[in-house]
Amino acid sequence: MNAEAVHSHSTHDAQADDRNENIKIWVNGELVHKDEAKVSVYDSGFMLGDGMWEGMRLYDGEWAFFDEHMDRLFNSLKSVSIDLDMGPQDIHNLLNETAAANGMTDNAHVRLMITRGRKAKPFQHPGLSRFGPTVVAIIEHSKPAESLMGQGIRLATVPQVRGLPMSQDAKYNSHSKLNCIIACLQAEQAGADEALMLDPNGFVNTTNACNFFIVRRGEVWTSTGDYCMNGVTRQKVIDLCRANDIPVKEKNYSLYEAYGADEAFLTGTFGAQTPVAEIDGKRIGTHDGAGPMTLKLRALYKELVAQDVAKQKAARA
Ligand SMILES: Cc1ncc(COP(=O)(O)O)c(C=O)c1O
Repeated sequence: MNAEAVHSHSTHDAQADDRNENIKIWVNGELVHKDEAKVSVYDSGFMLGDGMWEGMRLYDGEWAFFDEHMDRLFNSLKSVSIDLDMGPQDIHNLLNETAAANGMTDNAHVRLMITRGRKAKPFQHPGLSRFGPTVVAIIEHSKPAESLMGQGIRLATVPQVRGLPMSQDAKYNSHSKLNCIIACLQAEQAGADEALMLDPNGFVNTTNACNFFIVRRGEVWTSTGDYCMNGVTRQKVIDLCRANDIPVKEKNYSLYEAYGADEAFLTGTFGAQTPVAEIDGKRIGTHDGAGPMTLKLRALYKELVAQDVAKQKAARA
């Protein structure tokens, strides 16, 4: 195993792990070697981005915050009328079966994907997906790169916004990530690692792949939540602040306040809390990487994950 980062710098940088070349992947009820794991070119996910996914992490044999992820997934599936003949327990079973087939109990990350399934004809109408949903679970050995904590992510604000809920609601964790990908490309073209996206009113909103927080004068701020992914990690950070008497606000704020923040960090299942080093070329705070509030919230989050894992173990004992 070599410990180099796979990419130069992004929120999903993981330590390289050769074992991922030989993983088994769940494809519609079968466990197949990565090289053999395939879906049809008629699949609605491939053809149209018509599917939903969840990213979850395995800690000590348990999928952290499993119920919260299932709540979001099944809400999304219902909202777009993908009729999955499975419930959360079936998902839990298939994830555990896949993890076991790969000898994984910790430091593993799943991308669980559910699409409307194979289509009878290569056209858009959802009714053409006549063969039932496609279910795929890719679980990789995954340890976030240590360099992220020391260096932080460089963000650039971009023209691409996450739009109003009546267009494509940002709460859908859909296969179609083109909106976010365009934002990421724009940020890269501006020389940054990732994109800071505004909302339709020009307030600071979210990044292309994570939720975004700033720390100002002892307070933790994030967007109202109206135009961003309802991140599980975002909600956990807000709950942790409330439980630990850390002032936290979900509010509109502008780049003026973001540039002048003492700290900024991203949240997501993969990286937990990832420090932001600069926005639009302006250094954030006086820390090279994570500042004291980010570190404190990271420690609290780690404890919360451990509590959730213990709770899940106890419930199954
Ligand atoms: C656009 C976007 N924002 C934020 C997140 C983080 O969400 P979570 O904390 O549930 O992983 C994700 C992850 O799916 C995402 O795709």
